[in-house]
Amino acid sequence: MRILVTGGAGYIGSHTCIELLMAGYELVVVDNLSNSCQEPLKRIEKLTKKIIPFYNLDLRDEVRLINVFERYKFDGVIHFAGLKSVGESTISPLKYHHNNVSGSLVLASVMKKYGCKMIVFSSSATVYGDPDVTPIKENFPLTAVNPYGRSKLIVEEILEDIFNADKSWSIGLLRYFNPMGAHKSGLIGEDPNGVPNNLCPFISKVAVGRLKKLSVFGGDYDTPDGTGIRDYIHVVDLAKGHVKALISLMAKPQLLKVNLGTGQGYSVLEVIKAFESASGKIIPYEIVQRREGDIAECYSDPSYALKTLDWVAKKDLSEMCEDAWRWQINNPVGYSED
Ligand code: NAD
Ligand code: WQD
Repeated sequence: MRILVTGGAGYIGSHTCIELLMAGYELVVVDNLSNSCQEPLKRIEKLTKKIIPFYNLDLRDEVRLINVFERYKFDGVIHFAGLKSVGESTISPLKYHHNNVSGSLVLASVMKKYGCKMIVFSSSATVYGDPDVTPIKENFPLTAVNPYGRSKLIVEEILEDIFNADKSWSIGLLRYFNPMGAHKSGLIGEDPNGVPNNLCPFISKVAVGRLKKLSVFGGDYDTPDGTGIRDYIHVVDLAKGHVKALISLMAKPQLLKVNLGTGQGYSVLEVIKAFESASGKIIPYEIVQRREGDIAECYSDPSYALKTLDWVAKKDLSEMCEDAWRWQINNPVGYSED
């Protein structure tokens, strides 16, 4: 079985490549390296002793993408490639729609042309907006609260249209909650460009001394300690969810919409505490104003994933923090050499 992984050099993609290779799949990765580098793929090759053919291309470059499909026959595609900064998307919506929506359109068209009708798409819990109740189930109403979220929702809808027109497609829309952590080897992890937007990479950089202190966005939410609650999921659990999704999609053509989360919410202060225990470092922090667009509470009901994929997240918050810390301490400047 050969799988095309778009965005495979990125954070979730690289971890998923490891799980796919270990499960016996052959891979080809395409990535334009706009938010990554080739180093994780080289490390994965060393770790797994397997080869990953890599093509540095933008998904919107249809001619070059066609060349890849001419060269290999793919049984399916896992589509991670996309831009993911909510803040940037509000400033540059066109950039986000061009990249995330147009890239997915070109990919789906080329897949159709070559008769490859199985795709797993990286969607996000953001498609639920600010739901009235938690935990969040797959049948909750969907809404976009920022251009990034809208790009995810639009691609979900396009893929649904494709399925409705031709039921021999098999499509998985995986709605991730908050991925964190890193591979146990300490060789592969999250390496965001510049100052991180997300909580875990920010805390890691504070712990390793590269940032002074964490700003906790809001201490007055209607939550037990006043800080925001999220469903943090270990990136390796998330990666394994993709292997399970492929198995399910191969079994029969379908349109699958599924949450990948743990079902357990943790507050920002709880994450800080867990990271302090894992690292033995004090994380200096200050409670500041709420961040615009943030919601109080977001966590999944993961029972449908168990039922449909036979998948459940196994790693707890302390393991997420231990693994994130091992990656950070072994790679204080990420994948770069300076
Ligand atoms: P990432 O930025 O680490 O990985 C995305 C990869 O896609 C990068 O390597 C980037 O270079 C590549 N890419 C972007 N646009 C491309 C294009 N047009 N052509 C080719 N390659 C392109 O992000 P990630 O955290 O690994 O996220 C992977 C996917 O999961 C994204 O689609 C993201 O929106 C989605 N997602 C992420 C999170 C999260 O919190 N990390 C949560 C929910 C959903
Ligand atoms: C988590 C919690 C913050 C940073 C975002 C996207 C979502 C998905 C995952 C892609 C919140 C608090 C954070 C900081 C803080 N991505 N925080 N100080 O906002 O839940 O989700 O990433 O699909 O679409 O919106 O994740 O890690 O930014 O924040 O206090 O410096 O940590 O307020 O409560 P979020 P996050």
